[in-house]
Amino acid sequence: MKVLITAGPTVEAIDPVRFLSNRSSGKMGYALAAAAAKRGHSVLLISGPTSLDLPEGVDYLPIESAADMYQAVKSQIGRHDIAIFAAAVADYTPAKVADQKIKKTGDEMTLTLTRTKDILGSAREVMDFKGTLVGFAAETEKVIENARAKCLRKSCDLVIANDVSRKDIGFDSSENEVTLVYPDREEALPQDSKEHLAFHLIEIIEHLGSD
Ligand code: PMT
Repeated sequence: MKVLITAGPTVEAIDPVRFLSNRSSGKMGYALAAAAAKRGHSVLLISGPTSLDLPEGVDYLPIESAADMYQAVKSQIGRHDIAIFAAAVADYTPAKVADQKIKKTGDEMTLTLTRTKDILGSAREVMDFKGTLVGFAAETEKVIENARAKCLRKSCDLVIANDVSRKDIGFDSSENEVTLVYPDREEALPQDSKEHLAFHLIEIIEHLGSD
C-alpha cells in the first residue's frame, strides 16, 4: 500500500533569525515510516526539521512551516491509501514575518499570531481523502475524551493518543505509551520503544481499511 506520514515539528519564522517551534524530535513519525517501509509499503515521509537519519527506502519531502506541510500533504495525499499524521504542527503562526532582524525597543513586545490550517481536519472535506486516516492526539488532560472528540470531528479511522505531560514518553523521548481511540472504542497499549510500537501500529493500521 502507499502510505503518507507526517513527522517532526513545524518551524514558523518570526524574522530572518527567529522562529516558533515545539519539542517534537520526529522519532515517532520516523519510526512509523521505517516500520511501514520494512513491511513492504511505499512510504512518503513529509517532515519538519529533525536531526534524524532518513529511514531506508522512504521517499522524503522536507518542509518548514505548517503552511508548507499543508501544501505538501494537499498535493500528495490523493496518491495514498493510508495517511498517518504524527507531526506536531503549529496551531498559530506569526501574522507577518519581519524582513529584517527585529530590534530591541521597549521592555515588552507583542507578537500577533494567526491560526494555521488544520491539515488533518482538512483531509476528508477539503482534500477529499478516501483512504485510511490516522491522526495523533497530544494531550495533557482528558486524554481519551479529547482524542475521541478529535477522531469524530476530523472523520479519522483511528486517533493515537499520547499523554504529553509525561517526560518519559511522547515528545523527544525514545519510548511512547499510547491509547488507540476509534470512533466507538479504545484500546490502551503498554509503554514500549517507539520502534517496536511503530511496527505494531502499522500492522493495526494496514488492516483498518479491510475491517
Ligand atoms: O516527534 P517525537 O519527539 O517522537 O514526539 C512524538 C509526538 C508527541 C509529536 C507524536 O506522538 C504526536 O502526538 N504527534 C501529534 C502532535 C500534535 O500536534 O497533536 P495535536 O493533538 O495538537 O494535533 C492533532 C492532530 O492534528 C495530529 O495528528 C496533528 O499532526 C494534526 N494537526 C494539528 C494541527 C494542524 N494545524 N494540522 C494538523 O494536521
